[in-house]
Amino acid sequence: MLAIIGGTGLTRLKNLKITHRQVIRTPYGEPSGALTFGDINEHQVVFIARHGYGHTIPPHEINYRANIWALAEQKVKRVVSVCTVGGIRDDLPPGTVAVPDQIIDYTSGRKHTYFEGGDKPVTHVDFTEPYNPKLRARILKAAHAAGQKVVDGGVYAATQGPRLETAAEINRIFNDGGHMVGMTGMPEAALAREAGLRYATIAVVSNWAAGRGNSQHHVDLAAAEGVFGEAIEHVHRILEALVKV
Ligand code: HPA
Repeated sequence: MLAIIGGTGLTRLKNLKITHRQVIRTPYGEPSGALTFGDINEHQVVFIARHGYGHTIPPHEINYRANIWALAEQKVKRVVSVCTVGGIRDDLPPGTVAVPDQIIDYTSGRKHTYFEGGDKPVTHVDFTEPYNPKLRARILKAAHAAGQKVVDGGVYAATQGPRLETAAEINRIFNDGGHMVGMTGMPEAALAREAGLRYATIAVVSNWAAGRGNSQHHVDLAAAEGVFGEAIEHVHRILEALVKV
């Protein structure tokens, strides 16, 4: 069974034949919503909407630990997350779909680990490659099979939000090596690693990051809605192909 975490613009999966929903409680509190079980073309899928089904939970208040725990409890091995990002690198304009291969974490104050000491021994998971290379390769293969263009690789910079960044912050992130910026990629990826899940991300560029492209003076998220809607269609097609490969 494949797990899919939907981000902004992806609170439901197209072509998912829902079989049931299940509310899960975890030692870390409540996930963003019930898990939705079903199948896409007869392949089993479990889905959760990261911001809640009504998109009411802001990035810094998402219970990432509960979400990942709930999925891990379903005995899934692979988690594909869909995240919305601002494009920093020139080849990441709005509407682009990318499969990042690295992360820089700028978030703070989020509950970001299962290993909090006490009865849990301190554990330092390896995070050299934050996204599972095999799962990344599967996503790329699925995109190719579905005839969908995706950018292979890129550094996902995770910011705290919910405000957008300043132009100077984006310059700094770019100088650090960041290529796209979003608010939900961390600690989700690290928690998935701690939970022993294979995790990878499909990033959808909704806007130019602050100070880039047409965001020179301000970031207009609403203006980008058209291209974003189209890009989400590409993601649906990639996910449909992914359950098969
Ligand atoms: N910055 C941070 N997160 C985002 C952005 C952005 O420009 N666009 C979508 N998520």
